[in-house]
Amino acid sequence: MKKIKKAVIPAAGLGTRFLPATKAQPKEMLPIVDTPAIQYIVEEAIASGIEEILIITGRNKRSIEDHFDRSLELELQLKAQGKYDQLKMIEEISDIQVHFVRQKEAKGLGHAVLCAKQFIGEEPFAVLLGDDLVDAKVPALAQLIQAYDDMGGSILGVQKVASKDVSRYGIVRPKSVKPRVWQALDLVEKPSPEDAPSELAVLGRYVLTPAIFDLLEKTQPGAGGEIQLTDAISRLSTKEAVFAYAFEGRRYDIGDKEGFLEATVEYALKRPELRDPFLSYLTNTIGPMLGKR
Ligand code: G1P
Repeated sequence: MKKIKKAVIPAAGLGTRFLPATKAQPKEMLPIVDTPAIQYIVEEAIASGIEEILIITGRNKRSIEDHFDRSLELELQLKAQGKYDQLKMIEEISDIQVHFVRQKEAKGLGHAVLCAKQFIGEEPFAVLLGDDLVDAKVPALAQLIQAYDDMGGSILGVQKVASKDVSRYGIVRPKSVKPRVWQALDLVEKPSPEDAPSELAVLGRYVLTPAIFDLLEKTQPGAGGEIQLTDAISRLSTKEAVFAYAFEGRRYDIGDKEGFLEATVEYALKRPELRDPFLSYLTNTIGPMLGKR
């Protein structure tokens, strides 16, 4: 079986849920504590054994390219000031090999992934969505790759969501295979709770076989008038086995304001240098306010 070496990170969306912050800057560059969201995603891919990363960008996304480029002036200045820890940090970011392709029109996630066809070729590959941040002991994508090695077909990273939330996600029609694994018989993009085939939602991590590209080429606009990855995967599931795998980890929807705030607070509490002062602020300043609501 072919090893998963390449990953695609679609980052061409307009980020309308985060206006006005995203009017002139990509939502993928919004920081969680001090690190742009997309850097966490790239780091997850690398920690999962990915060797080549393609980011699908669009207009207004140049700062993503700049972030992974060298920053010579900054490097010189940090060196001159003897700030070697920071120098090492920014050098490590620009050492990451990232490729870019532009999606020229915002025609949906399926169309964005189709822009990776040439880069991927005839190999199975990973897709990581930037809105889904996962904090896990074993990186979420590494868990999916393990499931791919076990099952030998496309793998969708899922978790159970509340019934009222199914209309925000791609939802799987599952057939139980073994603990944490289902065969996905079908998928529905953003169903109403009444029409949802289950509460297993695809949460931004995929391992896909290259057969997806021919199907994406034939996929007509679906939910929201966009070419949906979910619709193409649904077609794929009629041609070859597609599995859903319930990955472990705390997942944040950072494309949503509340999810973004949750991630910010929880990631801040994980930083040794911030934990104590921030906890004391939450306890002493915010805590008493909660009692008064
Ligand atoms: C996209 C996918 C959806 C998936 C979701 C995960 O939706 O289309 O199937 O469940 O990401 O976050 P979006 O959040 O772009 O509307």
